[in-house]
Amino acid sequence: MIRVAFLTDLHFGFHRAALEGPLLARVNACAPSLVVIGGDVTHRGRPAQFAAAAAFLSRLDAPWMAVPGNHDLPLFDLVQRLAAPRAAYRAAISADTQPVRRAGAVRVMGVDSTDRLAWQRGAIDAAQTARVCATAGAGLTNIAVLHHPMRHRPGVDKALMRGAPAALAAFEGAGIHVVLTGHLHVWSAGAFLGQGGPDRVLHIQGGTALCGRPSDRQNEFALLDFDGADLTVQRHVAPMPDVAFGSPPAQRFSRASGRWVALPDTA
Ligand SMILES: [Fe+2]
Ligand SMILES: [Fe+2]
Repeated sequence: MIRVAFLTDLHFGFHRAALEGPLLARVNACAPSLVVIGGDVTHRGRPAQFAAAAAFLSRLDAPWMAVPGNHDLPLFDLVQRLAAPRAAYRAAISADTQPVRRAGAVRVMGVDSTDRLAWQRGAIDAAQTARVCATAGAGLTNIAVLHHPMRHRPGVDKALMRGAPAALAAFEGAGIHVVLTGHLHVWSAGAFLGQGGPDRVLHIQGGTALCGRPSDRQNEFALLDFDGADLTVQRHVAPMPDVAFGSPPAQRFSRASGRWVALPDTA
């Protein structure tokens, strides 16, 4: 069994500082093999915010990898956004904005879906898509992580990422099993299964791990336990204004048939 923790949308600079310690304690207590960060590590991409985010990451016991989110690129400083949009992120978090990590039979491939021109919407292009498809490994559970969702449920008021439908179709064909995304600050797992699609890609949409925006109402992260073709997803939630994470509910999925299905809760 390989355990991966997925945290996204930390928004350092507009974060719940009192929850930072409990979040670190819970993630470390879960002892994941890898921690995956889905972007928006800062709120405004400022140096002090990146420093706080880097300090948080340095306290994780497990190896970690991250991709940037739109909030990690300058919004108001147009000169910086056009000239060197990822400079601060690269300096503080990771020079590589599209890292690839492997933990046992699980491979996680980062995609930098930020776009200096389409700041809110983001984009994935053909080269990025091809890189992920070529990096997927036979016999592995292949995971792509990117900040912007590749599909939207009804009612989402944000524009879907540029290039998402073509990239998703390519992922379906290339053996990408799971897509981890953030950005919306709304949780869902397996929301698109059973709607007539091929169901070869499982979408896991993380809520915000630490953002202090009151309308988010809670902070959370996900723990993914991969065991062969089976996946158990634990959702660790701290409702606002609590500064503690509750007992995690779990969802189970299996791709033993080649298509993902949600399994009944046996807890
Ligand atoms: Fe965010
Ligand atoms: Fe975002």
